[in-house]
Amino acid sequence: MIKISTNKTIQTDLIILPLFEKDQSPIALPQAVLLDFKNTLGATQMVYSNQGQKRILLVGLGHKQKFGPQAWRQAIHSIMSYIRTLDVAQASLVLPKVSKLSPVKFMELTAFGVIFSHYHFDEYKQEKTPRKLQSLELITKISGKKINQAIEHGIIIGLAANEARSLANHPGNLVTPSHLAKYAQELARKYKFACKILGPAEIKKEKMGLLAGVAKGSDEPARFIVLEYLPAGRQAENKKLEPIVLIGKGLTFDSGGISIKPADRMEEMKYDMCGAADVLAIFEAVSQLKLPIHLIGLIPSTENLISGQATKPGDILISKSGVSVEIVNTDAEGRLVLADAIDYARAHFQPKLIIDYATLTGAVLVALGDQLAGFFANTKSYDAGFKKAAATAAENFWPLPMPEEYKEHIKSQVADIRNVGEKGLAGATAGAMFLEHFIGTTPWIHLDIAGTAWTMRPKPSLAVGATAWGVYLTVDFLRNL
Ligand code: BES
Ligand code: MG
Ligand code: ZN
Repeated sequence: MIKISTNKTIQTDLIILPLFEKDQSPIALPQAVLLDFKNTLGATQMVYSNQGQKRILLVGLGHKQKFGPQAWRQAIHSIMSYIRTLDVAQASLVLPKVSKLSPVKFMELTAFGVIFSHYHFDEYKQEKTPRKLQSLELITKISGKKINQAIEHGIIIGLAANEARSLANHPGNLVTPSHLAKYAQELARKYKFACKILGPAEIKKEKMGLLAGVAKGSDEPARFIVLEYLPAGRQAENKKLEPIVLIGKGLTFDSGGISIKPADRMEEMKYDMCGAADVLAIFEAVSQLKLPIHLIGLIPSTENLISGQATKPGDILISKSGVSVEIVNTDAEGRLVLADAIDYARAHFQPKLIIDYATLTGAVLVALGDQLAGFFANTKSYDAGFKKAAATAAENFWPLPMPEEYKEHIKSQVADIRNVGEKGLAGATAGAMFLEHFIGTTPWIHLDIAGTAWTMRPKPSLAVGATAWGVYLTVDFLRNL
């Protein structure tokens, strides 16, 4: 891990100097450098001085007017990617003056970005990418307790996000439902929140027939993970607080089942538990930040595989709340396990709000691409808070509708509902409206993260692999409630 601190003067030999377009460098540079340095967002140019060991890494910030959390995360990503190629243990990052963000928010985001972009997943490679950077000083005139705390918070959230990324980046042969459950238990012990694991027998006792139906084709036993966080002290009073319930889709592998997926890119379906990883990381961060909220986490976890036992198209499964569901396509399994989790939340708690995180539909990728999550809600109460948190974290979403007329799409001839909508029509909406059938009057936000949860090509601010999309956003949302 990198040590991050602040300093008023530069103490290391590698000076990282981010500059806005048309900015004058505060450090005298050889004139010729400016011939090569194109000051666009994320551009880098190393400058060598002929005195001593000093080097200066110029980094483009682009246009000042367009600058914000998104641009800063991108600039930090490009800095951290460049530094990885150098043999340096210490560096100084001269923080730019930004007017649009409060110093505290800016510091937290900086620390988060550094930790996030320092992450690199090479656990299965014999040849590791060495991580030489050990400490980074942020050069700024601002100091004080609040600033140090902001850095600490940024590190906590960044490390939690990285944990979620690792959990998702590990392959499905390691990360099984029982592995996920063990991981949750260890996390709970370490950060002192409660964790209960239900196995196949308890899942049956709870009448979670949809989760059980998906799990039938797999030899790995299903798990239903229940997390509970209460702020320390006054536990009894706090327990009475209506909880916020986070539900994370935990498909540790999704082959599609009998309605099998094409082989092309099927390996990516180890990432079908990114929603679960998000929820675990949010608990990790929230418990360290000691937020004054009552939080429940639910993770229905199974594989979706094929066997002589597997659920077949045409089968009818019964949900925890008694709804009969015609399985038209066994690949629409995420909504099934989530529906039982929603029923569980409503049966065991009185949720103030349910938020679910799910790599639910390929259709959301078609609608919104891979940099916007689909946002569905049956309430407007949290719109402003969510938007603000997304801007803070630079984790973006776009609202999608659930029109009454489309309820038709999930009607079944033989059961109460069916698990797919009309072919080729509003697939992400059909997934959301299936969940809506179970949500009743509980305020609810559904995040379809199928496009944003991982990336197979490097992006300007993201390395390949899981992204932990939603972790920073949610932590910021929860602490501002
Ligand atoms: N896990 C997938 C969704 C997915 C697809 C995520 C591609 C990321 C990339 C989900 O279980 C699924 O298979 N959904 C089906 C639903 C369909 C059968 C109605 C889909 O989107 O194809
Ligand atoms: Mg599927
Ligand atoms: Zn799936």
